[in-house]
Amino acid sequence: MLEKRNAVIVAHYYTDPDVQALAEETGGCVADSLEMARFGSRHSASTLIVAGVRFMGETAKILNPEKTTLMTTLKAECSLDLGCPAKPFAEFCDQHPERTVVVYANTSAAVKARADWVVTSSIAVELIDYLDSQGQKIIWAPDRHLGNYVQRKTGADILCWQAACIVHDEFKIQALQKMKMLYPNAAILAHPESPAAVVDLADAVGSTGQLIQAAQNLPNQQIIVATDKSIFYKMQQACPDKSFYIAPTAAYRTCAHCPWMAMYSLKTIEQGLKKEGELHEISINDELRERAFKPLERMLSFAASIK
Ligand code: 13P
Ligand code: SF4
Repeated sequence: MLEKRNAVIVAHYYTDPDVQALAEETGGCVADSLEMARFGSRHSASTLIVAGVRFMGETAKILNPEKTTLMTTLKAECSLDLGCPAKPFAEFCDQHPERTVVVYANTSAAVKARADWVVTSSIAVELIDYLDSQGQKIIWAPDRHLGNYVQRKTGADILCWQAACIVHDEFKIQALQKMKMLYPNAAILAHPESPAAVVDLADAVGSTGQLIQAAQNLPNQQIIVATDKSIFYKMQQACPDKSFYIAPTAAYRTCAHCPWMAMYSLKTIEQGLKKEGELHEISINDELRERAFKPLERMLSFAASIK
């Protein structure tokens, strides 16, 4: 079915394990948001089926206008994207014209179009460090925890928009400290969208891809993970002998799963491939796309220059 459509699945680590397995088995990719963007651009398929949230589909379309970009739903939002509407954000930027505008990939095409740079969590510290070394002052949006983390790592002058991820914002430091007492030999991995106290307790902090890498590199047999629990599919595959535990979002329980990523299932993708019209095409007008392309292209060039 995919071959017939000359299509490939580009999936995020937070999608259902069945969706990740399908992407892998059919020559697609399972990756963090930077690698998803790179994969879509490099692959020769004329159709990209993006299994992730809407900003990931939009990024694929902005970078590859000649490709058909499909998603099983256009309702898969992201609280960071929703927390940073284009108009007030543009007004905020207009109040600080001297600052370089850096936005996280988790934003709409319109917000990207207002930015000088787009960045993902895997290269955020490196990019801000570089801009700071050039004497630039920064506007950072939308994630306040990631902005705070990057500011503390680099010492850069950052004015930060105050949105948050509804999944990572919920990790609780006191419950995590208790859990660490129960598993004293466990390493803690945290995505930098988590609150500062959680990040400070972590042995490794990074993008989803970097956390999987850290799980492999750390010597610990037990690992507590502060990010969406669907990442366990790839973590366990990479480290079959290690035990993974999700970090708590309340005293003794957790619900660390993105409700929008959960909209993807094997069923919705299979149905979409079978029935005409069940997959939704991402379209972005040319003028907006061209403006959003520039800061995304800068991100990819910067990423290539440091890795
Ligand atoms: P990554 O770039 O680390 O994959 O993060 C995307 C995301 O939405 C995290 O919540
Ligand atoms: Fe957005 Fe958070 Fe879901 Fe990631 S986990 S897509 S940041 S809401």
